[in-house]
This record gives sequence, C-alpha cells and structure tokens, in this order.
Amino acid sequence: MTRSSASGAGKGTASTTRRDFLKASTTMASAGALGALNVGAYAGAGDVIRLGMIGCGGRNTGAADQAMTADKGVRLVAMCDIFMDRVKTVREVLKGNKPDQVVADDDHCFAGFDGYKRVIEACDVVVIANAAKFHPHHALTAIKAGKHVFVEKPHGIDPVGMKVMKQAADLARQKGLCLVSGLHSRYHTGYAETVQRIHEGQIGDVVAIEENFLRGPYGVIERKPGLSEVQWQCSTQYHFRWLSGDDVIQSLVHNLDRASWVMHNKAPAKCHGLGGRSSMTEPIYGDVFDHHSVVYEFDNGVPIYAFCRTTTGCYDEYSSVVLGTKGKADIMGCRIWGETNWRWTGKCDPYQREHDVLFKAIRDGKPVNNGDYMVPSTTIALMGQISCYTGQEVTWEQINSSEFCYEPRPEDCYDEMIPPVLPGPSGSYPVPLPGRTRML
Ligand SMILES: NC(=O)c1ccc[n+]([C@@H]2O[C@H](COP(=O)([O-])OP(=O)(O)OC[C@H]3O[C@@H](n4cnc5c(N)ncnc54)[C@H](O)[C@@H]3O)[C@@H](O)[C@H]2O)c1
Repeated sequence: MTRSSASGAGKGTASTTRRDFLKASTTMASAGALGALNVGAYAGAGDVIRLGMIGCGGRNTGAADQAMTADKGVRLVAMCDIFMDRVKTVREVLKGNKPDQVVADDDHCFAGFDGYKRVIEACDVVVIANAAKFHPHHALTAIKAGKHVFVEKPHGIDPVGMKVMKQAADLARQKGLCLVSGLHSRYHTGYAETVQRIHEGQIGDVVAIEENFLRGPYGVIERKPGLSEVQWQCSTQYHFRWLSGDDVIQSLVHNLDRASWVMHNKAPAKCHGLGGRSSMTEPIYGDVFDHHSVVYEFDNGVPIYAFCRTTTGCYDEYSSVVLGTKGKADIMGCRIWGETNWRWTGKCDPYQREHDVLFKAIRDGKPVNNGDYMVPSTTIALMGQISCYTGQEVTWEQINSSEFCYEPRPEDCYDEMIPPVLPGPSGSYPVPLPGRTRML
C-alpha cells in the first residue's frame, strides 16, 4: 500500500513527524505536489488526505471547513463551481479559517459544468453539494475513480438519478470506499436516542407521524447583467425544478428520512399530494411550487402527514412529531411525553459529526456507507413531489419502476447550453398543472 505524505510524492516516509508534515504541507501549493493517497488502501495517521470541492455554495463551504476540522491532515487541493468568482471567494473564506490547510492554487480552481472531472482527478475525497440534479452523477464518477465521497442531500431529483446513486452506493461498498450522506439527522446523537427510545416502545405502537418544514423561500439572487440564461438558473438553482427538484425533495426529505427511520427504514406503500404556487409567483422564483402537503401510508396503515412551505409572512414550523399508543415524541426537540417523560439535554453538531465519522473511517480503514437509507429516503421524497405535480396517487412500486428524468442528463450539460425551461411571454416560467401534468 502506498501512502502520500506531506513531504511530497515519493519522498515521504512513515517516520515523517507530524510537525514536519504540517510544516511541509503549508509550503505545498498544488494537488500534484501532495501525491496521491492510494485509496481503498487507507490513510495512516500522519498522511495527507487531499480534499476536493464540487460546488462552492454555502453548504459545501461548510462541508469543506468541517472536513478540515475533522482531520488536521486534510488539505483542500481543488475546487469547482459554475462560477469562478464563487470558487475564488470561497477559497479566501476557507483560507481565513484554515490557513494551513487550504492549498488549492489557481491551476486547481475550475469553472463550468466539467470542473468536477478535474476536481475528482486531483483528490482523495470529494465533498459534493451543488445542484442536486448532479449529485448522483458526480458521486458515481468519484466512486468509479476510487475516491471517498461526502454528498449532500437530496441524493437525486428523479427516478433515473436515484438508480445512479444506488449504483454509486453499491460500487462504494464493493470497492471499500466511504459514502457519507448529508441527511444529517442520522448523525445527530439526540435524534438517534429519541428514535432508539421509540423503537424500544416508549410511546407504544406508532399510530401516525406529522412532519413540518414551513419557512420562507430559499435566498433570492438578483440576476447579474451578462449572465446567460443557464448561468442565471444555476446561480439560483433552488428555484428551478430541473436543477433542485423542488421543496419536497429539497427540504421535506429530511423529515421523510426521520419518518422512515422511525419505521425501521421502511418506505411507505403510496402517497397522495397537493401543491401549488400561490404567493411566490414572480419570475425570480423560477418554476417551483411554494407549498406542498403529502399524505403517505405504510403497509401497516400508519400515515405520515407531511407539509412544506416556502412563503414569507406565514406561520413557520420545523418538526417531526410521532404519535404512539402510549405517548408522543418530538424528534427534533429530542423529547418524549406520555407514559414516559424524557428530554435529551446534550449538544450535537450533526454537520461536524458527519465529517468526524467520515475521516475516522478513512483513517481506520473501516468504510462507512449510508446507501441503505440515503437512496430510499430521497425516493420517498420523489414520490411526494411527483404526486403534488401530477395530482395523482403515487405508489412505491411505480416510482421505483419509473424511467422518468429531467432532461438533459447531468453528463450532457455544457456551458453554452440552452436550459430546458425558458420564461414565457410574461417573463414567468411554466409550472406543473396538477391533474394535467403527466410524469410517470
Ligand atoms: N444537509 C443540509 O442540511 C443542507 C443544508 C443546506 C444545503 N444542503 C444541500 O446542499 C446543496 C447545495 O446547497 P447550497 O445552499 O450551498 O446551494 P447554493 O445554490 O448556495 O450553491 C450551490 C452552488 O453549486 C454551484 N453549481 C450548480 N451546479 C453545479 C455543477 N454542475 N457543478 C459545479 N457547481 C455547480 C452553483 O453555482 C452554486 O454556487 C443542495 O443540494 C442543498 O439541498 C443541505
């Protein structure tokens, strides 16, 4: 097994001291200079782990920072985004926080749809958080190249994307690579204890689950002069369905992941949803809905009543409430009432924990793979989203056998492309029409 060392490819030895290693690495500016970690083989305690970022928005900035906090041997060596100015700004922000660990030079900063290929080449681990359309393809490409992956939710926006993410998870398992999901609830120790207590019967049998993700819209970004239509849409990806998948997939997926966790990772058999766009209708809000309600049902009859809204000036709530025959649990409040009364009082930053677990797994040579829940939980969200758009009942069987995907495929996107949705004569983008729109 070859391992990289901060003293450079071919020069480092296992006896390189930690001080030498840190001193040397701060003077190394390029990904190539750091040498490749032979992954699949794992990093030993002192080895440098080269990190790459695919997407330079707020979330991936956080993820890269958390990766560097988790392991002092991590060096950020390559970054990409659709926009070079975002890459450079984020590089400065991260350098401010982690001056010794950010070594990506200008030659390893990439802009445009193809940047991910160069980032994957240059690193051992990638953090992926951009437009969710691309998450499955970027994750699979990285795993095929033998790289460890942290990938944000949602893990796809359509049934074809979910098959790609499942392939990535299966291949990671075969290759002994890590695949960590940004469905952060699973990494929250307080939520985990609450779910554990539900599983132990502290609220009796589960009767129903209520899920809320009610808040204002995702940040609205004014269109900068000079941006092409596709650049503009990517710059505000949350507001375009072909990029983000919309809010059941984007937000309610966290709640649905918790609900499925409570039900021992089972998926509901069917759902019906209502949704639309009533307040946030200006062209700047793209082509997404601003409210959704979905009723799911498990085979044993237990329902999930799930709601999300992205509208300003309304009642807001974030909650996952589980009703049982002997009491009730509030997962996000880490609390149980009824025959048993309990409240968790600990502290946990699940975003940091995801990376603590990932880099420990890499160091220990014990791969972690979240494929078992990341794919089904996102698929549950897809069912609900498609049901809201079409106005039809959607079954688990239907969604899993569907070949629906948003065109173009992620691998076919290119910088000069015309996006698949364009504004109509009024300047507004067309939205789905429940009862008329067909998707499955
Ligand atoms: N787990 C969580 O709680 C959590 C929290 C926030 C965001 N997220 C997820 O992280 C992802 C990113 O969120 P964000 O808030 O940073 O979004 P953002 O819109 O602020 O940033 C996304 C960035 O990705 C870039 N991008 C788009 N397509 C790209 C491509 N093909 N290649 C490279 N870059 C591309 C955009 O230009 C943009 O800079 C989303 O999927 C979101 O759901 C998860």
